[in-house]
Parts: sequence; structure tokens; C-alpha cells
Amino acid sequence: MKALVTYYSETGNTEKLARAIYEAIHIEKTFLPVQDVKVFEGYDIIFVGFPVHAHSVPAKLIPFFRGLPNGQNIALFCTHGSLRGGQLPKQALEHAIGLATRAKILGTFGVRGKADIKVIDALMKQAEHRAWAEEAQGAHEHPNEMDLADGREFARGVIAKIAG
Ligand SMILES: Cc1cc2nc3c(=O)[nH]c(=O)nc-3n(C[C@H](O)[C@H](O)[C@H](O)COP(=O)(O)O)c2cc1C
Repeated sequence: MKALVTYYSETGNTEKLARAIYEAIHIEKTFLPVQDVKVFEGYDIIFVGFPVHAHSVPAKLIPFFRGLPNGQNIALFCTHGSLRGGQLPKQALEHAIGLATRAKILGTFGVRGKADIKVIDALMKQAEHRAWAEEAQGAHEHPNEMDLADGREFARGVIAKIAG
């Protein structure tokens, strides 16, 4: 059994969560930024992590999601400025699922991740960004230890599904 943990991260939040997920996996495993993933073959499960951008996956990741092979087991994780468990991150994960149409989704997970205050201030002025940007003002301590612990638990749950 083999797992790949791959992620895209601009300011380190998603990478931090990816590392926590990777640590919690106790089967053969590989850790790679999405840019370095050349082959999908040979993995029983691929964990894919991304920062939510404009209510969805970052545009440059769209080909990666579309390219996930038929029937490939995947688990999605993300970080986002908006409140955890709310409609906004849920929508972004649904977009990701919509792109990875051929893959088999074994789980989704998201936690908050801080955004640069200058980015928040600038985007808050744009109607399409206001909702998340307002919520993101309170995300400055995330992802925190509790978020990472929940990420490890998520990873163990997904692995249990394929190992069971
Ligand atoms: C251009 C841009 C767009 C963003 N759009 C959203 C969004 O729509 N919803 C949200 O909750 N957070 C949004 N964020 C906040 C990021 O998702 C959050 O800070 C994330 O943890 C960044 O992850 P990273 O450090 O791995 O890049 C946005 C951030 C940037 C820079």
C-alpha cells in the first residue's frame, strides 16, 4: 500500500497541514508539491491539498485535478481564511470534486489559514471577495496545533478506509 501526499501552497499554510497529514500516515508514502508530481500510477491513495482561492481551487491547479486518473482514490484537503465548517470552504471543496470527476473521493477536510492583512484589505473592497475576506480577519493564528491534530485524524480515517 502506497500513499502520495501532494499540495500547493503559496504562503506555507497548506504545506504545514500537508506535513501533518503525511506524518500521520503509516504506510509507504511520498511527499511532493503538485508541481513535482510526474506520475500518478502506483498510489493506492493520493491526498491533494490546496489553498482556497476565489471560492475554488487556484486556477493553476485545474489541469492537475482534471488529470487525476479514472477510479483513483483521492482525499482532498484545503486551507482557507473563511470560517471552518461554513458554506464558503464547502463550496471550494465541491468545486474540486467537480474537477476531479473521474477520481474516487474518500474524504475532504479543511481548516483555516491566515492570509496577509494587505491581501485581505485589498480583496475586501471587491464584492466577490468580501464575504471570505471579512471572515479571514480572524484567521491569523491558523492553522494551529488543534487544526493540525484534526488533519492527522482525518489522514488516519482515510487510510483506515483503504486498509480495511
Ligand atoms: C488571491 C487569494 C484568494 C483567496 N481566496 C479565498 C477565498 O475565496 N476563500 C477563503 O476562505 N480564503 C481565501 N484566501 C485565503 C487563503 O485560502 C488562505 O490564506 C490559505 O490558508 C493560504 O494557503 P497557503 O499559505 O498554503 O497559500 C485567498 C487568498 C488569496 C491570496
